Amino acid sequence: MKETVLEKARRFEEKHGNQIPKEARPEFHLSPYVGWMNDPNGFSWYDGKYHMFYQYHPYSMQWGPMHWGHAVSEDLLHWHHVPVALAPDAPYDEAGCFSGTAITMPDGKQLLVYTGVHREEQEDGTTVDIQKQCVAIGDGLNYEKYEKNPVLTKKDLPKGGRKEDFRDPKIFRGENGLYNMLAVNRDETEGGQVLLYKSKDALQWNYVGKVAENHNRLGLMWECPDLFSLGDKDILVLSAQEMLPEGLEFHNGFGTFALIGNFDEKTGKFTEESFQSLDYGLDFYAPQSILTPDGRRVMIGWMQNWDTVAPPQSNVYWAGQMSLPRELTMKNGRIYQNPIRELLEYRSEEKVSGEWELLDEELEIHGVDGRLVDMTVDVEAGDLSEIYHRFAIQFAKNDRFYTSISFRPKESVLRIDRKFSGSRRGIIHQRRSRVEHENGKIRLRLIIDRYSVEIFVNDGEQVLTAALQTQLDADRITFVASGKVKMKLCHYHLKEE
Ligand code: FRU
Repeated sequence: MKETVLEKARRFEEKHGNQIPKEARPEFHLSPYVGWMNDPNGFSWYDGKYHMFYQYHPYSMQWGPMHWGHAVSEDLLHWHHVPVALAPDAPYDEAGCFSGTAITMPDGKQLLVYTGVHREEQEDGTTVDIQKQCVAIGDGLNYEKYEKNPVLTKKDLPKGGRKEDFRDPKIFRGENGLYNMLAVNRDETEGGQVLLYKSKDALQWNYVGKVAENHNRLGLMWECPDLFSLGDKDILVLSAQEMLPEGLEFHNGFGTFALIGNFDEKTGKFTEESFQSLDYGLDFYAPQSILTPDGRRVMIGWMQNWDTVAPPQSNVYWAGQMSLPRELTMKNGRIYQNPIRELLEYRSEEKVSGEWELLDEELEIHGVDGRLVDMTVDVEAGDLSEIYHRFAIQFAKNDRFYTSISFRPKESVLRIDRKFSGSRRGIIHQRRSRVEHENGKIRLRLIIDRYSVEIFVNDGEQVLTAALQTQLDADRITFVASGKVKMKLCHYHLKEE
């Protein structure tokens, strides 16, 4: 019998994925079994484990016809690859199984909703990709596509909604037991909108209305919606294409943000009170979140961005990784993000800590180095009458390469810079964010996991994320002050499994 598209992908990933040495991958961040990864999909707690599916093209280091890769985890930090869950093998999804989410059904099965893309030939001979919502049901390992797929098509769109941009379903159970689905769409003005559908059985869906529209504000087409409550607010997370910069809050191009406000399930309307960016670095997009069994809201994003995709180095057989799981909390009307607390268990026994005073110098501290690092640095002015000019941490460093995070208190600007990280492409390498402070006080927690850094500022008020291609022997860390700086430091290596 001829091998199916799914069987072929499963055979391919098992053969090639298992040849990638463990040390060539991140330790705590999910990377694809083999080949290309983008968005997280179907992030869920199911059958006693965390499940993460992802946009996946096993056959190359580039985006291609999308499959749903699949991995499971007990602690959200160590992932075990399991066979690819969905392949583009049906007439309605032959051009790709795009992003979506998962839910546990009353009978204990897991239901996946995703966007099926199929190519439609036009009268002039060109083709356009049409997007529809589809369903697959399974047991945590094998999934069967619903025989009546697709479940939502262009006929379910409001007037003016484009059938070419109708995707990324987010499913959740409503107060009255009904299933809700959010999907994003592009309207006739090119702007993004979030649509709401309801269903009794998660198979037959009815259009309710528009949850939110961007009116050409906060980007154009919106992607990958997530919706949840945090504290006494509702949060609508979106990733946007073609954003315009707004101060240092948003930057040009692809960006991810949260609308904070209230969602009225009956009318389907989201009333926005405020908004914020979710990452001020270079590489974070399309996040999804879950509620853990012990009640924490945990979010994971694709640790890359369409504007910063760099071709991987020649001897690497995976491309793309997920961010650390981030615990979300509300503080003073703002979403705070911190690395999942389970990471503390992987701090090594030897710790380097202490206080230093720096004056116009570069300092290297014995034992402070590595590419698996959890380090917190508290900085303040060494002289209150003459606040320092700049403080920087350089890491993933050798004679040739480094990446840095630097703070200029007089401008209140924090800056991540990977220009010298070994990248050979003219993608964006620097980004700045605004951090309010008193006398140059700032706390930076850096998590370095081989090919990335995530910098949590002031206990999670901001995060700056960057994927790095720097060779692993660049593992020095230095501290650079211009002016007088008081620095408190606590450094751990992170333990490998
Ligand atoms: C976001 C996205 C989604 C889409 C998927 C395709 O990164 O463009 O909107 O479903 O990627 O891989």
